[in-house]
Amino acid sequence: MFKLAIIVGTDRPNSKSQVMAKYVHELYSERGVDAQVFSMADFPLGSVIGGPYGKNLPEIEAFREPILACNALLFVIPEYNGSFPGVLKVFIDYLPFPDAFVATPIAYIGISAGAFGSLRAVEQFQMVANYRNALSYPERVFVSRFSKNFSTDLGLTVPLEQELLLNQTNGFIDFVKRMQ
Ligand SMILES: Cc1cc2nc3c(=O)[nH]c(=O)nc-3n(C[C@H](O)[C@H](O)[C@H](O)COP(=O)(O)O)c2cc1C
Repeated sequence: MFKLAIIVGTDRPNSKSQVMAKYVHELYSERGVDAQVFSMADFPLGSVIGGPYGKNLPEIEAFREPILACNALLFVIPEYNGSFPGVLKVFIDYLPFPDAFVATPIAYIGISAGAFGSLRAVEQFQMVANYRNALSYPERVFVSRFSKNFSTDLGLTVPLEQELLLNQTNGFIDFVKRMQ
């Protein structure tokens, strides 16, 4: 089975995206995928103060290499001010160019406190992933009003959202296998 990086798109302590990533990790593990959760909370932001783009930065390398060693990526993206968190863009800007993400299967889950489930954030992030020639999995999941619509025991409490999540999980596994 393939290796999957589940990436929490924020560095906010106690973030709901982290909770969702943990739940999704269970779903993939149950299906035999070698999944691991990575978080922007561990991105070494201090190492990029001053803008050392293109320099050899051991802390950045140590953070990104296990992610880039995976066969597929799943981003859990919260909506911050109608977009995705800035730390996630900084992470992208310190990936090797142009190779990182080329032909990499990527799936997306959006999470928000508001009514639109991070649709804007995911679509904006997908523009960046598409620019980097990723293979975006078309079935995305958007979780609105996360605190109300998620339970750690049951997952997504809106039946349609849970169904979409399970469809995405099963479909993405199939997609990645076919791309290998
Ligand atoms: C800086 C910031 C900006 C936010 N902007 C939005 C927003 O534009 N729309 C929205 O629905 N929720 C917004 N939220 C709420 C998050 O979507 C909410 O916290 C959700 O649980 C996912 O983020 P989390 O992983 O940080 O918990 C914002 C939260 C923060 C910290």
